[in-house]
Amino acid sequence: MVEPNLFFNPNVEALPKYNAGLTVAAARAASGREFIARLGSNENPHGCSPAVLEALRKVEFSRYSDPGCEALRAALGAHLGVDPAQIVIGNGSEEMIAAASRAFLKQGATALTVAPSFGLHEIEPLAVGAKVVKVSMTPELGFDIAGLESALAAAPNLFLLPSPWNPVGAALDGPELERVIQATSPATMFLLDEAYREFTSSRIPDGLAALRQSGRPHIVLRTFSKAFGLAGLRVGYAICSSERIARMLSAAKTPFNVNAMAQAAAVAALADQQWMRESAALVLKERERVRLALQAMGLPVAPSEGNFLFVDLQRGSAEVAAALLKQGVIVKPWLEPKYNTFIRASIGSAEENDLFLSSLAGILKPAARYAAAR
Ligand SMILES: Cc1ncc(COP(=O)(O)O)c(C=O)c1O
Repeated sequence: MVEPNLFFNPNVEALPKYNAGLTVAAARAASGREFIARLGSNENPHGCSPAVLEALRKVEFSRYSDPGCEALRAALGAHLGVDPAQIVIGNGSEEMIAAASRAFLKQGATALTVAPSFGLHEIEPLAVGAKVVKVSMTPELGFDIAGLESALAAAPNLFLLPSPWNPVGAALDGPELERVIQATSPATMFLLDEAYREFTSSRIPDGLAALRQSGRPHIVLRTFSKAFGLAGLRVGYAICSSERIARMLSAAKTPFNVNAMAQAAAVAALADQQWMRESAALVLKERERVRLALQAMGLPVAPSEGNFLFVDLQRGSAEVAAALLKQGVIVKPWLEPKYNTFIRASIGSAEENDLFLSSLAGILKPAARYAAAR
C-alpha cells in the first residue's frame, strides 16, 4: 500500500505500545493446558456480585444507552456524598485518563507521573503531544515524596498519580498525601488514580476526601473493573472538583461511551458493597500467603496495598514470564528499562496462585543451583 500523501500524526505514531496482559486463548495455545492462572491484569478472581447478573437480564440493549449515565451518576453521588454533576462515567477509567489528557494538555505541555508507570499515564499525555516527566521509585520500592515535591515545583499541567500504585503496590499514607497535595500548584490538575482503592488498609486515607478538603483542582479516578469484578464490561468514573472540569471531561469523550449493560451492572455492583468487601478480604488473605511464599524463595517483593505484587526476579523477567506462560500462568513482565527484572503478579484464586508459585519455584530453581555452584 502506498500512502505518501497521508498525514500520520507523529505523536500517535511514536507512542509506546501498551503492555496488555495476555489472553486466556494465547496462554492455552502456548501451554497446551486448559487451566490457566490469569494473573496478568489485576482482575477479580471471584467474578462479580450475583445482583449484577440479575440486573443484566433486564437490560434493553436494542436501545441506545443513556449518554448521561444518570442512574449511575446519581447512585455514585449518593454513595460518595458528591454532586452527580461533578461525576463523569467512562468506558473504563482508562477513558477518563484519555479525556483528562485531551482536556488539560496540549502540544508542548507537561505531564508528571511516576516510574515505573501505569502505561496509560504516559501514553495518553504523549498522544496529545505533551512531555512526560517521571519520578522514579525509591530503592525501598516506594514513592519518592521529595522527588515528587521538587518535580511539582515546576507546576506541570497534569499530575497523574496512582495510589495504590500500579505496578508497585505502594499507597500514599496520610502525611505523604498531605505533602504531595501541598506541593501541587493550583495551576496543576491533580489526577489521583484510585483504581485499587477498595483493597487498601485502614492506614491509607481516602484520597478523594483529602483532595476535596484541600480545595485544589482535582480529578479522582475509580473503577468497577477491580474489586467489583466488572473488568470486561468497561466502566469507571472520574470525580471532579468542579462542574466545569466535569464538563471538560464529558466533552472530551464519545457521547454513548458507556454501554447499557455496563451502566446497569455498575448500579447493581455499587449497591452490593457486602459482596465487594468479602471478595476483597479474600484477595487480601491470598495476597499475604503469596507474598510470604515469594519471600521464602528469596525474592524482594514490594509492600502492596492492591490486588497484585511487584516482584524482583533479579533476572530478565520477560524470559521468566515466557517460561511461566508455557506452564499456563499469565503474569506481566515489566518492560520499562530499569524495571525489567520485575514481574507484576495479580492475586488470583488459591488454585491460580498455587500454580503460579509452584511453576515459578520450578523455573527459578535450576538458576539458583547454578549460581550457588559457582
Ligand atoms: C492504575 C490504573 N488506572 C486505571 C486502570 C484502568 O482500568 P479500567 O479502564 O478497567 O477502569 C487500571 C487498570 O489496570 C489501573 O491499573
